[in-house]
Amino acid sequence: MIALASDHGGYGLKQEIKKHLEERGLEYKDYGCYSEESCDYPDFAHKAAHAVAQGECECGILICGTGIGISIAANKVPGIRAALCHDCFSAAATKEHNNANMLAMGARVIGPGLALKIVDTFLDTPFSNDERHVRRIGKIEEI
Ligand code: RB5
Repeated sequence: MIALASDHGGYGLKQEIKKHLEERGLEYKDYGCYSEESCDYPDFAHKAAHAVAQGECECGILICGTGIGISIAANKVPGIRAALCHDCFSAAATKEHNNANMLAMGARVIGPGLALKIVDTFLDTPFSNDERHVRRIGKIEEI
């Protein structure tokens, strides 16, 4: 199960991502928002981040205008490693190296074509499980 969340700035791209996940046969849960009416991204970031941190969802995708605010908010939840990615190299690297459990993107930064490729890269790239990366992620949890 993939947790989704956005604010009004990311609502349109989130709808495109939902369609894409359905075409891939992947299940998701949308933690809001549910329209383009102005709202506060931390409210939805926290709901989706808690779902991932508590194991209700394996990973999550977060969208706001820039991807910045919603990733900052999600990263306040213990156990969350939300990575802001606007290219496929970063999306692959953050899975391989950081075992990121949430992807954040900005709908005002990139178009839907690239965003969907980033989503696929993030979902399809496994964690390397290399000892050095496991050790570094462990140190993040100690902070
Ligand atoms: C909303 O206008 C905008 O501030 C928000 O979507 C996001 O970009 C914040 O980081």
